[in-house]
Amino acid sequence: MSDRIADALVIFGITGDLAKKMTFRSLYRLERRGLLDCAIVGVAVDNWTVDQLRAHAREAISQSGEQIDEHVFGRLEGRLSYVSGDFGDEQTYRAVAEALGGAHDPVFYLEIPPSLFATVVAGLAKAGLAGDGRRVVVEKPFGHDLASARALAAELHKYLDESQIYRIDHFLGKMGLEEILYLRFANTMLEPVWNRNHLSAVQITMAESFGVEDRGHFYDPVGALRDVVVNHLLQMLATAAMEPPAGRDPDTLKDAKSAVFRTMDDADPGHYVRGQYRGYLEIDGVAPDSSTETYAALRLHVDNWRWSGVPFFIRTGKQLAVTQTELRLVFKHPPRLHFLSADQRRPQPSQIVFKLDPSTGIRMVLDAHRADRAGPAEIQLDVQFAEEGGEGPTPYEVLLHAALAGDSTHFTRQDNVEECWRVVQPLLDSPPPVHEYEKGSWGPSAADRLVAGFGGWHGPWIAHSEGQTA
Ligand code: BG6
Repeated sequence: MSDRIADALVIFGITGDLAKKMTFRSLYRLERRGLLDCAIVGVAVDNWTVDQLRAHAREAISQSGEQIDEHVFGRLEGRLSYVSGDFGDEQTYRAVAEALGGAHDPVFYLEIPPSLFATVVAGLAKAGLAGDGRRVVVEKPFGHDLASARALAAELHKYLDESQIYRIDHFLGKMGLEEILYLRFANTMLEPVWNRNHLSAVQITMAESFGVEDRGHFYDPVGALRDVVVNHLLQMLATAAMEPPAGRDPDTLKDAKSAVFRTMDDADPGHYVRGQYRGYLEIDGVAPDSSTETYAALRLHVDNWRWSGVPFFIRTGKQLAVTQTELRLVFKHPPRLHFLSADQRRPQPSQIVFKLDPSTGIRMVLDAHRADRAGPAEIQLDVQFAEEGGEGPTPYEVLLHAALAGDSTHFTRQDNVEECWRVVQPLLDSPPPVHEYEKGSWGPSAADRLVAGFGGWHGPWIAHSEGQTA
């Protein structure tokens, strides 16, 4: 962890979509919690005044659903300044340096397409702004395959040391992911069964009930595998699969994840099913004959002492029946219970579910004898974490605060990024055909064959408070 708290935050691309949807809201919430203590310099090509930026920030925050407290917003807008300029022009960086005034430890946040990362980092370096361990925060995608991920890193490494680069994967800011790591190792009843001796499979579901909508231009060259599997869902997998980190420094944690990724087999295209929802081809920005997947289901393997032989199934898709993200451990079948009569239903494997989105919680699925049913049945023990102390900060609040504090724990390291691409590369090289599926469904039925023999796809768990019944 850097011991230097940032005294300025410079946001390249502050007039863009991400800033509008996420950044202003997160900064506002940090300000409200008393966690913001630096100047904010926005940089973009748009010819705006600082007043326009302030008005834009106010609108973005209220559109995100926050009730604006004028005292809090007043403090936030007082921090804002704006530099308008072309990212390829040296004058822009001179203007940034001037706007920084006496700041010693600015953090640079690049909310811009990765194709511009090298230009901006070079501009900062030439202006003498990127030295001295200064932190540069970048947004995904980190390449579109293994080779381009390496090339992108090589560009950044011309000017920055790896320790200066804070790569955002916003799933690493989710409280639910922290919770998985904590619960696993803080509870002696969980850790001993968390392995191949007791589990038959692990399932990760990230279902979204909305579509690609106005993101066709971005999404069509990308698809579900690159958009969320190679990053968010492999981070979830690593959190579920890793050994307890032997220390609290960021590199020790990243090393523990690296040990998981490095023991993963290359993915097998024979265990990969792609889907595309009906209507996707009509979206603006999508090629009329696109075969991009909006749904992906796959089977992965972690071949180490804890996990060998336990498949990790991942499924994700747009326009599915619900919006829900969870991790589910499926235990092995118990043996036949000889004290039951031969015609009685056999007990089903237990499950533990960790719900990440839209809210967090834990569920245990057990088999029990119930008097009100015709014999034994599945019962569920649920805890909604929101009812046990609230939901906590949003991912971007966590990440921005960590970047300003110099804590890289929640950011991804290049070796791990490359290992993730290495795992999925065969799926990119030999993609299976894409199956059409109906909006509001659970994706193509072809995905069921992946989990045949493992009790099918389970869940996801949908809490009653989330407006639907389980
Ligand atoms: C983004 C993807 O990284 O994550 C989106 O580009 C996806 O397609 C989003 O919808 C999901 O994030 P969250 O936090 O809403 O689950």
